[in-house]
Amino acid sequence: MAQRDETVLVVDFGAQYAQLIARRVRELRVYSEIVPHRITAAEVQAKNPSAIILSGGPKSVHVEGAPALDPAIYDLGIPIFGICYGVQLIAQQLGGTVGRGLRGEYGRARVTLADGVHSELLDGLPHEQDVWMSHFDAVTVPPPGFTATASTPDAPVAALECLERKIWGVQWHPEVVHTPHGMAVLQRFLHDLAGCKGGWTMLSIIDEQVAAVRAKVGTGKVICALSGGVDSAVAAALVHRAIGHQLVCIYVDTGLMRLNESDQVVETFKRNMGIELIHVTAGPRYFEKLEGVVEPEAKRKIIGELFVRIFEEHTGGLQDAEYLVQGTLYPDVIESGGADGTAAVIKSHHNVGGLPEDMTLQLVEPLRDLFKDEVRRLGSELGLPDEIVLRQPFPGPGLGVRILGEVTPERVTILQQADAIVREEIHKAGLERELWQAFAVLAADVHSVGVMGDERTYANPVIIRAVTSDDAMTADWARLPYDLLETMSNRIINEVRGVNRVVYDITSKPPGTIEWE
Ligand code: XMP
Repeated sequence: MAQRDETVLVVDFGAQYAQLIARRVRELRVYSEIVPHRITAAEVQAKNPSAIILSGGPKSVHVEGAPALDPAIYDLGIPIFGICYGVQLIAQQLGGTVGRGLRGEYGRARVTLADGVHSELLDGLPHEQDVWMSHFDAVTVPPPGFTATASTPDAPVAALECLERKIWGVQWHPEVVHTPHGMAVLQRFLHDLAGCKGGWTMLSIIDEQVAAVRAKVGTGKVICALSGGVDSAVAAALVHRAIGHQLVCIYVDTGLMRLNESDQVVETFKRNMGIELIHVTAGPRYFEKLEGVVEPEAKRKIIGELFVRIFEEHTGGLQDAEYLVQGTLYPDVIESGGADGTAAVIKSHHNVGGLPEDMTLQLVEPLRDLFKDEVRRLGSELGLPDEIVLRQPFPGPGLGVRILGEVTPERVTILQQADAIVREEIHKAGLERELWQAFAVLAADVHSVGVMGDERTYANPVIIRAVTSDDAMTADWARLPYDLLETMSNRIINEVRGVNRVVYDITSKPPGTIEWE
């Protein structure tokens, strides 16, 4: 496919640097793929990349067993760019010297470009600039044939290059937002030095995936379980674009969805997009099964198992179906062992709560090369409304795990209303894109005394949870303006019956988690 003619390999040396670099490369419209550092020169050649980026990593090149690169890769003639650990590795493997750090540089540092030295990579950028550093060791002598092109007080060779060998490197992190000229450096490397043209756009992804889905499924029948979330929605829209009525979607309304969520799914997919949709209203069955259940893991299990049963009941009639669409994303693929097929297992933790293990359907995963932000943009390009593509992460078991205590229809109604107010006010305040999630939790088993009007109340508290995060692994509580919190609190108390107190959760993750369950 056209845009895959230009692939940049990001060699992963550990930590989380590689993913961010890969995303930045794609922002520059070049397709990128993360590969393990054990990749051999032959494997690199087989992928025929336009360039290679060596990522940062947590190790010192001096420690026993520190990850290295197959040295033959340096001789392939493919442009190479080393970042942080990557540049130290270049120096060490090609005959330069990496000094053991006496003191590290963490956070902001001031880089000065070398006087009177021509740099293909850095010329034209400010002579002095702020960059973000995170290192202990530093290159002290560049390899033979290389030129040192920048320095900081603690890194005498903060950048190096050898045009003849097509190798460049910087000690700082151009991929982070705290390095103001970082994208300019990456762009210079990719577009000017490596000669990438940058054809990786949403339209090209659609063309590519439409062709791939058609080639894979032929005239076969395809099923997709919509969860209401972004990933399955975009995957379904993409597959529908490819094969139209060969796709049948199933949406199980568990009764545990957010306010109006089910209507919106049906409206978008059935009415607007004309997708064949089996809409199962299963709330009563869920409430029956959840009666008296308080323990969150037990709730998850019940909700997951019932989903599987309902899925089987309703797709049993689609005997001729051969394929199942899954909204697997690139980070899932990386986490479960790489892009070479090891991730072709159904994510049991994911939205659907685990599908049958003996299922014979083959998977169609049109998003498995994409990051979340790309999936959102793709969704918009495919015509999905903002309410769906900007939707926050939502646990598979839905509001079932945001009710502390037994799940009943009345409690779900209270929580839906409170949650809708929280999200509506966040939307009005224009804070949606800054937050990872903002939602309400109902402490249904907690009662406290309050006074409303002249009357004593004895009702439940609602907890507001709003966090910032990049990947949900860690999160910080959002510093929401007091006025906004006040509006939410007033509205919840006034508009939602059964709530007499609103509290704001100021716990980060760790030690807390994002959800309350
Ligand atoms: P915690 O509470 O562990 O949540 O900090 C981390 C992120 O995962 C989301 N989450 C889920 N997502 N299925 C999902 O697809 C689930 O069962 C599930 N449970 C939690 C949660 O909303 C947060 O963003």
